[in-house]
Amino acid sequence: MQAAASNPLAPALAALCGRDLLSSADLSAEQTQALLQLAADLKAGRSQIDLAGKTLGLIFTKASTRTRVSFSVAMARLGGQTLDLNPQLTQVGRGEPVADTARVLSRYVDALAIRTFAQEELAEYAHWASIPVINALTDLEHPCQALADYLTLQEAFGELKGLTLSYVGDGNNVAHSLLLCGALLGVNVRIGCPVGFEPNGEVLGRAQALAAASGGSVAVLHEPVAAVRGAHALYTDVWASMGQEEEKAERERAFAGWCLNEELIAEADPRAIVLHCLPAYRGLEISSGAIEGPSSRIFDQAENRLHAQQALLAALLGGV
Ligand code: CP
Ligand code: NVA
Repeated sequence: MQAAASNPLAPALAALCGRDLLSSADLSAEQTQALLQLAADLKAGRSQIDLAGKTLGLIFTKASTRTRVSFSVAMARLGGQTLDLNPQLTQVGRGEPVADTARVLSRYVDALAIRTFAQEELAEYAHWASIPVINALTDLEHPCQALADYLTLQEAFGELKGLTLSYVGDGNNVAHSLLLCGALLGVNVRIGCPVGFEPNGEVLGRAQALAAASGGSVAVLHEPVAAVRGAHALYTDVWASMGQEEEKAERERAFAGWCLNEELIAEADPRAIVLHCLPAYRGLEISSGAIEGPSSRIFDQAENRLHAQQALLAALLGGV
């Protein structure tokens, strides 16, 4: 394997070799910064990584466009390959225990990216697997998304420390990883949400502790304008996540007035960028004008999934 060209952050990346990424908080601040730097270097063509002969298995029990495709293309660009272990086509879907599946797959593939509902199931895979297990989204977190999101913010502003990212919407998986990853990086992360849709208390507590160490901050606000005022990034996600389809109408009522639109953008810093993990429901959590407007970096953000995951795979699979 070829080392990333004279990357001073190489020791931080090398320490990730063989590790799992189940939560954004599994990384240290230095490792997160090193991954963002490597992602930027890979994007700019300044680093070369060779993962020839390595195979990533994808176990996705929920739909995915960006995560599935960006992992596959990331492995291909690094010279490795991906195996789609669709639960419907494997014994996973017929109830083979995770303990058995994880140990068997560890004999064939070099890492697993898993998208599922329960964080506990992901943790069980990680417990039994002898290879890196990557969270490709659970109901609790989306750490690969957060890496791409902060890479996008870094591209817009350079230094991340001291910036304010305001997430308006449901305080769940995407918000949780933004809180933890942002707190590591010294970002001021604000979550704006209706009462009853706050982030998980444990995640919030963890983020508060990380922010205390980095000089960042975390806050939860229940009024949209107060949540976005002066922010450098405005972010939203769907109001009804995968698995909550039957709550869609009820959630639309609860989130009335929380659409990320031009009026809210006008309350932010004039340089503010607009982000959305996608897929989006235009006219609900975000206006079409916000997606297509001059502040939007949403499609750069989607592209950055590819670069961030190349960096992550390189580190976990010993390519740096
Ligand atoms: N943002 C994201 O994870 O998209 P997919 O569900 O399409 O993978
Ligand atoms: N919160 C969304 C994110 C999709 C990428 C969901 O879990 O469906």
